[in-house]
Amino acid sequence: MRIRGRGTPLDNGYIQDPYPRLQQWRDAEHLPRVHLSYGISALLVSGYEDARQVLESPAVSKDVRPALRMLGGSRRDAEVLSEHMLNADAPQHARLRRLAAPSVSHGRPGEWTPVIEEIVHELLDRIAARGSADLVTDFALPLPITLVCRMLGIPRADRERVIEWSNDLVVQANPESVARGTAKLGAYLTDLLERKATHPDGDGLSLLATHGPHGSSQLTRTELVSTAFLLLFAGHETMVNLIGNGVLALLEHPQQLDRLRREPGLLPGAIEELLRYDSPVSHATIRYTTAALDLRGRPLPRGRFVLVSLAGGNRDSETFADADSLDIGRAAARHLAFGHGPHYCLGAQLARVQGQLAIGALLQRFPRLRLAVEPDRLRRRQSTLMRGLESLPVRCD
Ligand code: HEM
Repeated sequence: MRIRGRGTPLDNGYIQDPYPRLQQWRDAEHLPRVHLSYGISALLVSGYEDARQVLESPAVSKDVRPALRMLGGSRRDAEVLSEHMLNADAPQHARLRRLAAPSVSHGRPGEWTPVIEEIVHELLDRIAARGSADLVTDFALPLPITLVCRMLGIPRADRERVIEWSNDLVVQANPESVARGTAKLGAYLTDLLERKATHPDGDGLSLLATHGPHGSSQLTRTELVSTAFLLLFAGHETMVNLIGNGVLALLEHPQQLDRLRREPGLLPGAIEELLRYDSPVSHATIRYTTAALDLRGRPLPRGRFVLVSLAGGNRDSETFADADSLDIGRAAARHLAFGHGPHYCLGAQLARVQGQLAIGALLQRFPRLRLAVEPDRLRRRQSTLMRGLESLPVRCD
């Protein structure tokens, strides 16, 4: 098993601008071996067709916990809140996903639109009063967590605490803050789900806690809390990065921005292109091969960790003509930004609507929106899986 070893590090240079290296790797004869934490290495897949093949293959497992444990890279006590669909294979995966889906899509179609608009305009009012903002802290971060708290039914009085713990996970994101946030949220969600089970009131967590026979849950207690945790977080940092990366891409391409202002009907397609051009989740979560695959002549052996670069697939010029250019008029919807195969994002539709309403309102309200710093001063957050900005200072007066 060649899952230990050095490989190429995904260093800060790659985090700041992965695209030149992804281009080289797409054209290379062999799949590159990259170095991850705990001394583990993975084979990296960065072509569009290869990425789809891996993401839909039953020979590629999402439950990497046994392999990580064997290497000392994961401990059982660090695995609390991990019994959810994103770490499961068929047939467990289908069961966990089916039981969670109504919590993300409950309500009539469009029911959440006025709620999103209300949150967006409240945040933009505050920015308008100041004339300047850090769009990450003041807009992109508070929007999705506020929305998801309302959808899941986190009581108003608890939201500040929940947002604070979620910031431990998403903003601070160091080992201590992640351990602290996870422990606090786990205890809080366990307690809240018990209350929702006895006093359900139609919100997302009540549905999760009571959809079984006689109002019980069909999930085990650990699955229930893990699923609630996943739903709270899967759409948080991802959305922050869609808004941050998307607005930056538009500000760096003034002709595309002008076109979007002149032709607002292009907005849904523009969001797809922004998702493709600078993908919020740069790599899919790690996978493990249980049988060998052949990726158009390049071998992916059995018993390896594999990292799929969604950003790489989305810049593959065999699939997207002139892939390194931003073109809000192109048909980009088959991008991989929401993944592919059985783990395709459960919240993709909600994310699209949020992206359209947030970026649409921002452009409409601030015709003079511009960067407040030189683009080369902007820094990407240190993360292997996610691709997002530390901050995005703008002026809008
Ligand atoms: C722009 C925003 C978003 C992006 C780019 C995004 C991206 C992704 C990606 C790439 C995956 C697949 C990961 C993999 O296969 O390793 C995924 C899965 C998932 N996403 Fe999203 N996501 C977004 C927003 C949301 C929202 C708003 C929610 C719901 C509140 C959500 C819920 C989920 C869930 C539950 C999964 C796991 C699906 C499964 O394992 O079957 N996501 N997302």
